[in-house]
Parts: sequence; C-alpha cells; structure tokens
Amino acid sequence: MSAPTDWFRYKGNHLEIDGTRLEQVANKFGTPCYVYSDRGFLDPLTALKKGLKGIDHLICFAVKSNSNLSVLSLLTEAGAGMDIVSGGELFRALTAGAPAQEIIFSGVGKTPGEMATALEADDQGIYAFNVESVAELATLSTVAENLGKRARVALRFNPDVDAKTHPYIATGLKRNKFGLDRKEILTIAAAHETFPGVSIEGISIHIGSQILSLRPLRESFTKVRALMKEVEKILPHRLQFVDLGGGLGISYGKERPISIPDFCKLVKEYFGKLSIKVILEPGRLLSGNAGILLTEILYRKVRTQRDFLIVDAAMNDLIRPSLYESHHEIVPVQKVKNGKNKKTDVVGPICETGDFFAQDRSLPLHLNQGDLLAILSAGAYGFSMASNYNSRPRVAEVLIQNGTPKLIRERETYEDLIRGEVHT
Ligand SMILES: Cc1ncc(COP(=O)(O)O)c(C=O)c1O
Repeated sequence: MSAPTDWFRYKGNHLEIDGTRLEQVANKFGTPCYVYSDRGFLDPLTALKKGLKGIDHLICFAVKSNSNLSVLSLLTEAGAGMDIVSGGELFRALTAGAPAQEIIFSGVGKTPGEMATALEADDQGIYAFNVESVAELATLSTVAENLGKRARVALRFNPDVDAKTHPYIATGLKRNKFGLDRKEILTIAAAHETFPGVSIEGISIHIGSQILSLRPLRESFTKVRALMKEVEKILPHRLQFVDLGGGLGISYGKERPISIPDFCKLVKEYFGKLSIKVILEPGRLLSGNAGILLTEILYRKVRTQRDFLIVDAAMNDLIRPSLYESHHEIVPVQKVKNGKNKKTDVVGPICETGDFFAQDRSLPLHLNQGDLLAILSAGAYGFSMASNYNSRPRVAEVLIQNGTPKLIRERETYEDLIRGEVHT
C-alpha cells in the first residue's frame, strides 16, 4: 500500500500526520473522527497565490466544502477570502474572522433576509453577490435600495460547457439550474438602470466540481472573456472583476489533477492583462486531501465471495460514496507487511444497502475487530455534508496544527440529537 497523500504518510508501519500517529488521535479523541492537516489546507493555497503572483486576485475558499470555524480561521489568517452560499455560511465566515470585504455570496436562492445581512456585514457589506437570475437581481436591488446601499454584483454566466464530471456536480450546462445565458446577461446589462440598487461590476462562472482537464476551463474562459467585452460595450463603466469559480479536481487515488501552476498560467493567459481583479472559489482543492475519516473496525463478516468490514463510521458521516459512488482510498492505520488480501466491502452500521465506503476492494485479510482504518481524501464535502441519520451523533473533528492535535469540534452527544425538539 502506497503513501496515501502528501500530508498523511506512513512512518515505519504507522500512519502519521506531521509526526502525530493516527493511533494516538484515536486513543485521545475516539472514533469515528475527521482528522485534518493544517499543511493540507495551506500548501495548495500557497501554491495558488504563488501562481497568481503579479495579478490582482482574491482566493475565496468555498465554505461549503469544509465549514469548521478553525479551518476557516486558518485559511483567513493565511489570506484567503470566503465564498459563501447561505446566511449560515456568512455567519460562520464572519465568526471565523473573515473580513466582509473578502466574502463572495454565490448560490441560486438567496433570500431577501440573507441579502440584507450580507449587505450590512461589517457596515461596508460583503465584496459581491454572484447573481443567477433576473428575479434575484430585482430582489437584491430592492433590498439594497431599502437599506440605502448599492450591492456590487457579478452576473453568473452559464457558458454551456461540459465540465466532464459527475452529473450531480456539473453546473455549467444549459440544462442545469445555474447562471444566466449570454442573451440574458446582455439584456440585463442593457437594462442596468432599472436595477438602481446594484452595480454590475463582474462576470462569474462555476462550471462544476472535480474538473480534471484544462480543456473545459479554457473553453469557458474563452466564452467569458468574449462576453465581458460585449457587456463592457453596453455598460457605462468597465468591469472590475471576474470570478472564475472553483472546481479544480484532486486525486482520490488514481486521478491526475490539473497542476496548480498550469491552471494559474491559463488564468493569466486569459485575464492577466485586463486590469481587473481575478477571484477564485476553490473548495475541494484546498480541503479535499487535507482530511481523512478515521474509523474503527467493529466486525469482520466472512462470506465466500467477499468479506464485509463493518466499521463505526457510516454514510451519515461521509455520504460521498453513497451519493456519487465516489472512490475513497482506504488504508490501515497500522500496516502489516506481506499479508494476504481479500475482496472486501467496507460498510457502516446504517440500515441501508447504500451505506458503504468501498465495494469489492482488495484489502488485507488480517484486518479485524479493533483495527483502525483511514478513509482518505475526506476533507471536502465530508463533515460538511454529515447528518444525524439513524440518530447517530455527528463525529468529532481534529486538526493537526503545527504538529499538535487540537479538537476543533466535539463529538455530539445524545442530548445534542434532541436539542430543539418538543416532547409533547
Ligand atoms: C458557486 C460555487 N463555487 C465554488 C464551489 C466549490 O467547488 P469545488 O469544491 O469543486 O472547488 C462550488 C461547489 O459546489 C460552487 O457551487
């Protein structure tokens, strides 16, 4: 079994993060739990910043991918802005110390209440709203006018480009609910005076997630740049920024992701000479390989065709395999050399056949009750998509920061499960 990721490595037979053995983490904080590496978040951020050096840019972390306060603070302190999609994420970002002027509000269904809160954050309001429909633009304009404010806006362009990713995370096709087409954007630009509460200052896109090729990005950048020119001919002012969204893929084991320098080169090629701010909204790229889900084997159930390893984590803790049939590498926390392997399903205790982390995976036969497994690449859309299904308390989160394990979210209790419920 190879070295799992850049930040989680075997030293001898023990899986470690920055000198901390995962067995130690399990002993101290229990299982299941998410374990993150600070460097796992910071290294790709640094690489992006380095790649974009020389152009005005803002890297807004997609809070939805991992919304733990300590993670947001870590990234804020390292100079990231935040990309939010709800009032709750705005609250988290501000609580973590993100400056409002470095927050971008994305999403197709912002409520008037959320818009007002964002416009009033830190008095000056957030940096910009990515608007996805005419009706939303009209609502934002009214909300801002009523508050005596003017909202900075990017119109989200749906370029009808196939991101060649899982259909549930493709967002840039005509049939998807996201964004406005070219004609709609030009019509809005021509009618900009009818929206006095907003100032149209940018174009944004986000064509999908887990993108592994530069081709769809190049295709959409070409379309964005052409559209920006058309919009600037209509508006009485120049555009101030372009938001290129997130979506850069990571390796979950076999994939060969786009290299960060290659991506930055492409961004510079298309937008480097336009004297505008370039905004990015990476989520998975910064958080995906920064975290693992640590779980203990409860039972080995032996069958002829395949065995089942029943673990103490379940689909409510990490839903990606059930939801998207996503592949996550699973490795033993303690390696045993030269053992035999067997076709194995790694499953959770939930009463659903879809409650699996791996199917038909070749895993060591010696793995048994009490052994620990690490489910890799679980830092993005892991805890942030967790639920209490089957009345399972949500798990703890631990961040290895400067080599020291810190509990950044307590494991929920049974009391937490019924908080807010009324017992009639
Ligand atoms: C508008 C927007 N921006 C950014 C992201 C982050 O995507 P990723 O985690 O693939 O970078 C998403 C993900 O759904 C999104 O919808």
